[in-house]
This record gives sequence, C-alpha cells and structure tokens, in this order.
Amino acid sequence: MQVKAVSDNSKFIRISTDETDLLLRTGSNERLYQVYLGPKLLQKSDLANLPAFNIDGKEAYQTSGAEDYFESALAITHADGNMTTILKYVSSEVKKQDENVSETIITLKDEVYPITVKLHYVTYGKENIIKSWSEISHSERKPIILNRYASSMLYFENPAYFLTEFSGDWAKEVNMSTQELKFGKKILETKLGSRAGMHTSPFFELGLGQPASEHQGDVVLGTIGWTGNFRFTFEVDNVGNLRVSSGINPYASSYELKPGEIFTTPEFIFTFSQEGTGKASRNFHSWARNYQLKDGKGDRLTLLNNWENTSFNFNEEILSDLMKEAKHLGVDMFLLDDGWFGNKYPRNDDHAGLGDWEAMHKKLPHGIPFLVNAAKEAGVKFGIWIEPEMVNPKSELFEKHPDWVIHQPNRETYYFRNQLVLDLSNPKVQDFVFDVVDKIMKENPEVAFFKWDCNSPITNIYSPYLKEKQNQLYINHVRGIYNVFNRVKEKYPNIPMMLCSGGGARCDYEALKYFTEFWPSDNTDPIERLYIQWGFSQFFPSKAMCAHVTSWNRNTSIKFRTDVAMMCKLGFDIGLKDLNADELAYCQNAVANFKRLKGTILDGDQYRLVSPYETNHTAIMYVGQGQDKAVLYTFDINPRYQEKLFPVKLQGLDPQKKYKVEEINLMTGRKSNLKENGRTLSGDYLMKVGLHPFTSNRTNSRIIEITAE
Ligand code: GLA
Repeated sequence: MQVKAVSDNSKFIRISTDETDLLLRTGSNERLYQVYLGPKLLQKSDLANLPAFNIDGKEAYQTSGAEDYFESALAITHADGNMTTILKYVSSEVKKQDENVSETIITLKDEVYPITVKLHYVTYGKENIIKSWSEISHSERKPIILNRYASSMLYFENPAYFLTEFSGDWAKEVNMSTQELKFGKKILETKLGSRAGMHTSPFFELGLGQPASEHQGDVVLGTIGWTGNFRFTFEVDNVGNLRVSSGINPYASSYELKPGEIFTTPEFIFTFSQEGTGKASRNFHSWARNYQLKDGKGDRLTLLNNWENTSFNFNEEILSDLMKEAKHLGVDMFLLDDGWFGNKYPRNDDHAGLGDWEAMHKKLPHGIPFLVNAAKEAGVKFGIWIEPEMVNPKSELFEKHPDWVIHQPNRETYYFRNQLVLDLSNPKVQDFVFDVVDKIMKENPEVAFFKWDCNSPITNIYSPYLKEKQNQLYINHVRGIYNVFNRVKEKYPNIPMMLCSGGGARCDYEALKYFTEFWPSDNTDPIERLYIQWGFSQFFPSKAMCAHVTSWNRNTSIKFRTDVAMMCKLGFDIGLKDLNADELAYCQNAVANFKRLKGTILDGDQYRLVSPYETNHTAIMYVGQGQDKAVLYTFDINPRYQEKLFPVKLQGLDPQKKYKVEEINLMTGRKSNLKENGRTLSGDYLMKVGLHPFTSNRTNSRIIEITAE
C-alpha cells in the first residue's frame, strides 16, 4: 500500500475500549480509511503519526466498482444500472450510553448517487468488545439492488494469519481446526437458512502472526448476530494484508431496497486480545452476561428432561413419576420434550404432527394443565418443548395452510427429518408461531420454561408469500423470526427459554438476546462433550450452555458424566431408576454442590487451563468475583500407559490469598486421593507450582473446590 499525504484537516475517529483502539481517518479524497486496529495507544500525540491513506488504502467500508480489486463490503446496482459506489465522509457523532458503553455513528454518502451509509460502532470499555453494523438507505427514484452488504470490514497487517474455524454436523459440533491464510479468499458460510449453523458456526478466531493460542499472542475473536445465512470472507491481498468482511450471506439474496427504506445489517461483534484466546473468551463471557444474553445476570434452572429417557413414549403417569424423580434428585424443573401434541396426526415419531400444537388426547387426556398441576404437586417447575417454525406434511396445519410452507409449487419436495419450514416472511405465519407460545401461556400461566427447537434447514427454497420476490426470502424469513422472538419477549419478558436446533446449530448472539441458554449438542457422550463445550466456550459463557447427564456412553461412570455436565448449566436426561443407590446419592449430592457453587460456575471468570486438543487430559476452572472461591474441573480422557502426568497450574487467583483445596463430588465412601487435598496453599503457589489432579485412569474426573481463608 502506498502511503500518501493527506490534508491536515483530515478527520480522525477513535473507537476504543479500555484495551483496544480502532482508528479511522479520512483521506484528502474525503473517503474513510482504517489506520489502526490493535492494543490501545497510550500517547494521544502518537495518533497524528499514523499513516494516512488515500485511494489504495484500507477503506473502512469498501465499496465495489471503484479502484479496489478485492472483496468489497458493499456492492450496489443503482436504479439506472450503474454498479459503482464511492462513499465520502460526511459526519460522525458519539453517543455515550453510560460510563462503559458508547456508540459512534459515522455517516458516509456518495456524491453521484443519493446513497447514505451509516456505520455504527458500539464499544464496551471494560469488556473490551466492539459491535459494528451498518445502515444503508437511498433516495433514488426506483429501488436499488444490494448485491453485497457486509456488517463490517476489518484489516490486518501481520507477517502471517491463522484462522481457527468451528465446523461439524449433527452431534459433532464445533470441531476446532486451524489453517494459515495465504493469498486469496477463504470463506466460512452457510446457506441452510434455518438450522443455519449445522455445518459451521457463526464465529471464528484469528491468530495474528501465529496460530491463536490459549494463554498468549494477539488474537481476534469475531461473531455475527444473525440467525440465518451468514458469511465471513478472509482475503489476503497482493501485498499480504488481510481483510475480513462479515455479514449476511448474500447467496440467492440480492436485496431490492426501496427508496426511503433502511437496510440494517446484523451486528458483527469482536474482541482483540494480546493474551490469547483465554482472555478474549473472558471478554465475550462477561460482555454476554452484562449486555447481550437474555437475563444474563439472572439465575438458571437445573432440570430433568425426558427426551433421552422416554423419547416419544410417555403418558400422564410416566411423566408424573418423572416429576417426582426430578424433585427427589433436587433439580428445579421438569422439562417435557417432543411428542406431546397432535391428534389427527399424533406425534408418535418424527413423521407426523409438527404444527398441531394441541396436547395429544391419547397420551395426555387432561392436557397440559394436568402436567402443570402434577409438577406443582411434585414441587418442581414445568417446562415444555416446542418447534413452532416447522411443519410435518402429515399435519392438520399443512392440510389447512399449504401456502404457509416454504416449498416448491412445481417440483418434487425434499424433506429433512420429514418436515418443512414455515414461511416466516409471511406476517400471518409470524402470528401463528407467536400464538403457539401465547396459547400455551394463556392456558397455563405457570409454564416456567420453553425449549424452542428448529430441526430442519430450509429446503425447496420457494416462498408462496413472496411470489416473484424470492430473493428476499432468506432475509425476510429471519426478520420474521426476530419479529416473533420480539413479541414473545415483550409479552413474557421473564420466561427463560432454551435455544435448540437439532443440537447446537443455532447459537448466535442476536438470537441469544431472546434466549437465556442454548443446547450445544444432542451428543451427550461426556468425552465428546469435553470438546464440544471447549469449542462453544470460546464465545459463550457457561451460563448460556446447557449440559445434561444422559446414558450416552454408559462405559463412563455417572460421576464422569455428571462432572462434565457440571461445567455448564446442569441438567439430567436419564431415568433415575437406572441408577443404583450410590449413583443416585452421588447425583443428589452433585445437584446440591452445583446449586451451592453456581455463582462461581455460571458467573465466574473461566480459565481453560489444559486443552483436550493438545493433551490426553483437560482442565478448566472458574474463579468467582473477589477471587475468594474457585472451582477446578480436571478430566483424564485417554491417558497412555505410564504417561508423564504434569501438574496443573491454576489461574486467576489472588497470589496473596491462602486457599483451602478440597476435592468434592466424590462417590459415597470414597476418599480423595488428590495429593494436595485438604491443604491450604497460597494463590501464588497454586498458580506457579500447581496441583496434581491428573491420573493415568481413563475417563477419570475430579471437581476441586478452592476457597480463600
Ligand atoms: C432435536 C433436539 C433434541 C430433542 C429432539 C426432539 O434433535 O436437539 O434435544 O428435543 O429434537 O425431537
């Protein structure tokens, strides 16, 4: 890149958190360029020394059709067919929301075509998070076409770039893999519409100069808040600079924007850390709890779910018994899963009934009110599963309203899990989906929780409602979903809800404004869960992640399964009758420990100490506020014969404080064989010398409570 002189009256825009600076500056051509992104600059006087760009610089919101030869953020076909846009700086303003949060809004305009783009940046000082999105509008005489409309564009200038992506499939979510980015593009995207994140999750990690690593190095963590098709484009250009553009995937979605209409892109949220991914994740965790996650600062309910236990086979008696079991176990709630509805087409498997949200007379002759009452009598709360955006062709809903369903009028239908997606671009369908929740709540105001599922991608891409405007489908469908989420949240602001999508295919920070938690995976094999929870924890706090103890991988002990689940929001999905007396007593004790320690586990700072990707073990700890309490989890996954066992050095403690070390969650009658059990050690010692929790036994686990004296 050439650096050219700019006029002295160039405009500087400083977007900063406590630790990061993003600096933008106008060139003499009045266009806006990124001149710095990195650790906060300490001397204000240094700002003027930053290189000033012109023409071939890093344009803050790169447009297409001009002299830039690489991926642009914005590409417009104007009403007259012209495909060039050049944006010039007009003005900027800062709105301080409070001491910690402020918003910068920058207005850019094209001088030739009446196009306005507003770039929004919201900074969260302490959490070190920046959110950015853009608003595009115009006053041309006819609609314009938006061919590309990124939320944000960022540039990096490092010797090398390493991308860590999170990919997988049903029951094998968020496998982390890292590759070096070389010349050209690497794209992470989904075209699945709903259940959008089934193969790739809406977040990434970028290692600058070296692969992203846990405890050191410069990294950027970024994620897009969009519950639909997203795309991240990483492009290394001719001189070795990297640009990252993030936004909605424009695939099959060239958007027709009417004069006066404002197109608002989703939020791209990122953090920059000089201390590796551990610090970056903690930034995300505390930001999510403080600002983004529904009821982020609130409590969470432990539960007993029936899906893995009964599947579709239950009746009033079975469920009432399970509610009593839930109480016996000590959890807060019983959660009824799939299979409770459908009469003409009863939901006895996944082939029929979706869409007909009336309790099935055969299984539940007295309806939901009976169950709410039974839960009350048992002394637990009652929660219920719904999948209101979907329909089985074998349903009364489909018979009545085939035009409410996304499917082809003139081609053979392709079904995913024997179901189709309702057309949420249609306001009538939005009303229907809202009513699913509203009806349940009106009839049963004591329902305390929803698990909201979404099992199918959009197949047979055709909206009967949008007719010749099919290119609006993917976007309007997601907007329709948000419209429903909004209405539900407005009417029932206090009801906790779990976001689920055949496991963890829906977990973005826009949806999580409406959900208190999400279901990371249907895979509850505790070994797999160690990796899955490790992956999601890069972006989400433990409080947002549900983890259930089930019968997946019975080769592992109930203790191992429970200890893994206790790292997140604990639940059970297992028949207690399958447990022996010792196992049941162990589980009851574990629930009590979880409830006692959840302030630390769900709201504390997380330190990922030992990676399961790098060793045959893993260790994670949480440190509560004030550094008085910590909980350490250690797992031996698959240690080799006579493997060297290394100590685990703790983090986040106060070096000056003395801490009591005590192994908890032991099977009845078992004594801890942890070398340091019962000892009092300084935070300094624990962080420099460490503990020796690892063993050479396969699938062995420990939970260690660490308490300041
Ligand atoms: C999805 C969910 C599961 C369960 C089933 C019910 O697969 O991820 O947890 O609710 O649907 O059909």
